[in-house]
Amino acid sequence: MSKNILILPGDGIGPEIVTEAVKVLNTVNELFDLNLTLTEGLVGGSAYDVHGTPLPEETMEKARAADAILLGAVGGPKWDALPDRELRPEKGLLGLRSGLELFGNLRPAILYPQLAEASSLKPEVVSGLDILIVRELTGGIYFGKPRGIRTLENGEREGYNTYVYNESEIKRIARVAFESAMKRNKKLCSVDKANVLEVTVLWREVVNEVAKEYPEVEVSHMYVDNAAMQLVRAPKQFDVMVTGNMFGDILSDAAAMLTGSIGMLPSASLDKDNKGMYEPCHGSAPDIAGQGIANPLATILSAAMMLRYSLGETEAADAIEQAVSKVLDKGLRTGDIWSDGMQQVNTADMGEAVVAALREV
Ligand code: IPM
Ligand code: MG
Repeated sequence: MSKNILILPGDGIGPEIVTEAVKVLNTVNELFDLNLTLTEGLVGGSAYDVHGTPLPEETMEKARAADAILLGAVGGPKWDALPDRELRPEKGLLGLRSGLELFGNLRPAILYPQLAEASSLKPEVVSGLDILIVRELTGGIYFGKPRGIRTLENGEREGYNTYVYNESEIKRIARVAFESAMKRNKKLCSVDKANVLEVTVLWREVVNEVAKEYPEVEVSHMYVDNAAMQLVRAPKQFDVMVTGNMFGDILSDAAAMLTGSIGMLPSASLDKDNKGMYEPCHGSAPDIAGQGIANPLATILSAAMMLRYSLGETEAADAIEQAVSKVLDKGLRTGDIWSDGMQQVNTADMGEAVVAALREV
């Protein structure tokens, strides 16, 4: 049976990097006889420009019907000034995440040995780094209500958001994290701010309750400020980290830099049945959009995660990851991961090099 993949290029560098990931998907589709059908849709600012909304119903329908979704990035200065916050490009992304109940966000930060020089940390601190950040994606302060900006009686404006998690939300993301830890080194660090925020006092309690179901996993808890420090001090102490939506957003950017560039970090956002949306962890990088110099590898690696997690095509996923490694072995680098002696290439060269490496096997 044919598998239906929805491609959502989005804004900024989104279309450029997604074009390369689509080349790679088309190649494995052919080489491994995957029977994938790719369709495109609009999301973010590019959807707003055509339909007046960042998440048209048509896109939502296509997303519901798809077996998996590959997304580039959304947002940009062109839409920053939109007076209605509900129409911002980011709302398209958040609407997909919550509308499809993609609560489990997996963000692996793996250092390719070839890129040890590109990391901002000393090679000995990051060599062999392999962390999985499990971020809760459909709750917490991103979605909590009430929220808004109001004017007080004295005429002063006040902004407010609500940081809220209920027990079942914490339980289901904790299970995703424990299950992931069981497949890895069986170490889980839960990150919270339980010294200040009640919502994360509950988070810690519930994680400890779920821990009883996984006696083999060694559990620790860390405050988020310490976790940020430990990530740049001694990142190899971590195996799996689990945390809420906002802390996960921040820590995954920090973890990304350890691997050399945020342009290397893929992600999977999964629902309870492992249907998922796959996207690079980075944003739409409007400052370099349209120049053809963005690193497409995070998106290409996201396509590999899609094959592995939602489509069960392990062989094709392995092949893509190996092809990326080969291309790095050859010394090809986009600007963000370039170091002395390496060959600087543009977005399309990088995508085509991965395709060529796939065909070499
Ligand atoms: C991410 C991004 C998004 C987020 C933005 C674009 C809404 O930073 O996926 O990490 O904050 O979740
Ligand atoms: Mg982010």
